[in-house]
Amino acid sequence: ILLTLLAVLLSYLLGSVPAAAWVARSRGVDIRQVGSGNSGATNVLRSLGRGPAVVVAAFDVLKGALAVGLARTVGLGPLEAGLCGVAAVVGHNFSPFLGWRGGKGVATTFGTLVALAPLVGLGMAVIGLLTVALTRLVSAGSILGAAAAVLVSAVSGQPLWLSALVAALAALLVWQHRENVTRLRAGNERRLGDKG
Ligand code: G3P
Repeated sequence: ILLTLLAVLLSYLLGSVPAAAWVARSRGVDIRQVGSGNSGATNVLRSLGRGPAVVVAAFDVLKGALAVGLARTVGLGPLEAGLCGVAAVVGHNFSPFLGWRGGKGVATTFGTLVALAPLVGLGMAVIGLLTVALTRLVSAGSILGAAAAVLVSAVSGQPLWLSALVAALAALLVWQHRENVTRLRAGNERRLGDKG
């Protein structure tokens, strides 16, 4: 139990490393003051372009995957490793480096799922990317991707704890997108390629 607690704490710290904010700052941009104001790869793409966005996305995916992978490496079981993944997402969304605020947890959730149950991560990626390709709305892709992960975990014979964990991650992801949902409903959500 002590090892689990330590791993969860370290995962939280790993998750809280705010790649988007720091990459943006290194280029003289305050990520909270541009575009959607979100500390995530999508907003980095909007404000700084493709290169930095790929770096941020990859780093944020890695935070989730590493939290799960390292937990497994030190001998923790899949459930404990899953909790480490959740801790990384929580760290990303509520980071002490950003005044307990942060991003929306899409990339880190994806990294966690890929490491924990690849099929579930694949479901999220396929539906998410398809949605973005069709609509250019990253927020809609993120929400539908999360819904797909819940569906895939429910129908692919995963243990109950895993389905519950995926549902919790999806619920948190949707909650973090509450401002996006308001904009989506109002029809004024930013699309990829739009200015601003
Ligand atoms: O990565 C978060 C994405 O789903 C939406 O980002 O900047 O459009 O709020 P943003």
